[in-house]
Amino acid sequence: MIEFAGEFQIGDNIKPLDPNNVSSIVTYGRYGFPMDNQSTGYSLIYNQLYPFEGLQNYTSGIIHHVRLTGLRPNTLYQYQCGDPSIADMSKVSYFKTMPVSGPKSYPRRIAVVGDLGLTHNTTSTVDHLLANGPDLMLLVGDVSYANLYLTNGTVSDCYSCSFSQTFIQETYQPRWDYWGRFMQPLVSKVPMMVVEGNHEIEEQAGNRTFASYSSRFAFPSNESGSSSTLFYSFNAGGIHFIMLGAYTAYHKSDDQYKWLEKDLAKVDRNVTPWLVAAWHPPWYSTYKAHYREEECMKVEMEDILYKYGVDIVFNGHVHAYERSNRVYNYTLDPCGPVYITVGDGGNREKMAIAHADEPGNCPEPSTTPDKFMGGFCAFNFIEGPAAGKFCWDKQPEYSAYRESSFGHGILEVKNETYALWTWHRNQDMYSTSADVIYIVRQPDRCPVTDNGA
Ligand SMILES: [Fe+2]
Repeated sequence: MIEFAGEFQIGDNIKPLDPNNVSSIVTYGRYGFPMDNQSTGYSLIYNQLYPFEGLQNYTSGIIHHVRLTGLRPNTLYQYQCGDPSIADMSKVSYFKTMPVSGPKSYPRRIAVVGDLGLTHNTTSTVDHLLANGPDLMLLVGDVSYANLYLTNGTVSDCYSCSFSQTFIQETYQPRWDYWGRFMQPLVSKVPMMVVEGNHEIEEQAGNRTFASYSSRFAFPSNESGSSSTLFYSFNAGGIHFIMLGAYTAYHKSDDQYKWLEKDLAKVDRNVTPWLVAAWHPPWYSTYKAHYREEECMKVEMEDILYKYGVDIVFNGHVHAYERSNRVYNYTLDPCGPVYITVGDGGNREKMAIAHADEPGNCPEPSTTPDKFMGGFCAFNFIEGPAAGKFCWDKQPEYSAYRESSFGHGILEVKNETYALWTWHRNQDMYSTSADVIYIVRQPDRCPVTDNGA
């Protein structure tokens, strides 16, 4: 009998497990047929180590990654995972593959959620999301909130809150394990694509970052020509998704930008008419919290996304809901993307309520840039159409709908030109939507050639 095989350890005296001690196997088959296909993957562990006393080190359980090949599109499969040699296999679960890419072929419902954490609000969000029966789920960053759980409310919320000179904020990595178990009923059957938020940075000894994020999730980085787990792309039916990293270099001379240029140039809008981008912190948000925090990323990347006709952008980070009109450079533009912030997944931090356009709420510009990425990019408020406007004195034209409630969204692409977006609040009945909009592509009015010209 193997006791506690694969469990995490936390404390001063931890010994990393050897991932080679157990196999990573998935047996699978089409629903209604024997599970006579088998794929073998690989396993890994990661460590979260702190270079000073007072914080608990962590070494993970064994994390398995297995790629299934030869799957048919739009087909229901059943599978089990584990190590058959020690008779340790999971229960049978089910998943459905994405439809083939093409202009008439779309996943039925795509759930979009951000800033989940693990609270009673998270439970409600995930419950509502499951009830909407998505075929695919996008998680736009800030996943487990594995910080702020050490003192259990006895002193301060966190070690680094009590000792402000602490140069690394602690994490409580078992939170990731709890979160994974909580999410299993959903993610064992609905494919989930994740992009990193600031809560995934998780700095540790040796300047290592994103260890848990990069170890626990699967990313089609190689398949999409990316060198990193922090940015990648994929197709789901007739939609091309681009996942961007806001907490890794994004300047025009950096790998991410060069990859983005290549990826956009390869998109064939006859095969994937819809182009959707997602990253964590929003460029267009009117809430006071994180107001214009990513101005530098926006200055660097907005033009290329506009040039290639991105239809929709999904963000999180701001703990509320907001949907923009089609916008480019702070100006209404029928060919700009619709920006949707769904940072309202339910984490334990405060909900964003105040708006920057309300009296006394406009922050001093120099205090706004993201602290991790640094920089200060004033270009968009000293030049161009929004010159002189750091804040507006009422809800700006670009902001179509904003509300501070927990919830999630569902995207239903109907055809090459119509997509239905619905936002579902936790306080409503399952079948109710609080914000409903058809997003309409106008390829005749906003033509995009293969080179973005
Ligand atoms: Fe965030």
